[in-house]
Amino acid sequence: MKLRNILWVIAIGLFASPTIAGVGEGKELYDAYCQVCHGGLGEGQTMGKPLIDSVTNRLSDDELLDVINNGRNGTGMAAWGGSFSETEILDIATYVRVLQGKPGLDLADDTGGPSDDPLVIAGERLFNGVAGCVTCHSYNDQGGSVGPALDSVADRLGYGLELALFNPSATILAGYEVKVVEQQDGTIVRGRYRNDSELAVQIQSEDGTRWVTYFKDRVKSIEDSDESLMPETYATLGAVEQEQLMAFLRSL
Ligand code: HEC
Ligand code: HEC
Repeated sequence: MKLRNILWVIAIGLFASPTIAGVGEGKELYDAYCQVCHGGLGEGQTMGKPLIDSVTNRLSDDELLDVINNGRNGTGMAAWGGSFSETEILDIATYVRVLQGKPGLDLADDTGGPSDDPLVIAGERLFNGVAGCVTCHSYNDQGGSVGPALDSVADRLGYGLELALFNPSATILAGYEVKVVEQQDGTIVRGRYRNDSELAVQIQSEDGTRWVTYFKDRVKSIEDSDESLMPETYATLGAVEQEQLMAFLRSL
C-alpha cells in the first residue's frame, strides 16, 4: 500500500502533474498549503493526521470535498473553500486520492468540472440552446422538470439511449405517462399527471412549475395518451449535432 503511494508520487514527479487526469494544480497547491500538516505523501505530521489511512480512504468523494471546503470545527483543519476556486478544490482532492493510490475522484466528471472534449462542449451548448432539451430536462440540478433528470442517463439506459432519443414514444418512462384533457370550451391540455381519482386529476403545466386540477365532471373528456411529451427533435438534427448531443449525454 505504502509502496504503491510512493510509486504514484514518483510517477507524478517524473511526468509532471498534467499527465494525470484531473490533478491540474493539485500537487502544487497541496505542497504549498496542506503538506505542512499532512506531510508530503499524506503520511501525517504533528499538526495534522495522515490522509492515506483507512479513515480518510473511506471518506466518500463528497465527504472529502466537504472537509476540504468547510474544515472541521474546533480542530486545526480550517475551511479552504473561501481560499480556492471550485476547480482548485477539485484538483487538491484529486491529488489526495492520488496519494491514496487511487486514480482520482469518481465524481471529477459530473460535479460540473467543465469537460474539455469539444464534442461534449458543443453538445452541451445544443442541449441548453437550439435543441431546447433543457426546458424539460435537468442535469446537475439545473433545468426543467417536465422530463426526468438526465444525470447518468447513459449508464441507466445503455443501448436504450438511442431509442429514447429517436423514438421517445416507443417506451415511456414510468411516471411520465400522459393524459389529454378536453375542456368544455374545446381547449386541449396535454401533460404528465398525478393524483388521478374518480373526481379529478392533476396535470402538470407546460413549464413544469404547477399541477393544475381538472374535475372530471367539468371537462368534456380525459384520455390516456401513448405519445411521449418529448418531441422528436433529435431525429431532425444533422449527424454532427446528433453526435455532439450524444457525447454530452454520455458525459453526464
Ligand atoms: C494547520 C494544519 C492543517 C492544514 C494546513 C491542513 N489540515 Fe487538513 N486536517 C488537519 C487536522 C488537525 C485534521 C483532523 C481534524 C479532525 O480531528 O477531525 C485535518 C483533517 C483533514 C481531512 C479529513 C481527514 C479524515 O480522515 O477525516 C482532510 C481530507 C484534510 N484535512 C485535507 C486537507 C487539505 C487538502 C489541506 C490543504 C488544502 C489541509 N487539510 C490543510 C490539519 C490541517
Ligand atoms: C417538451 C419536453 C421535452 C423536451 C423539449 C425534451 N424532452 Fe426528453 N423527455 C421528456 C419526457 C416527458 C420524457 C419521459 C417520457 C419518455 O420516456 O418518453 C423524456 C425522456 C428523455 C430521455 C429518456 C430518459 C430516461 O431516463 O428514460 C432522454 C435521453 C431524453 N428525454 C433526452 C432529451 C434530449 C436530448 C432532448 C433535446 C433534443 C429532449 N429530451 C427534449 C420531455 C422532453
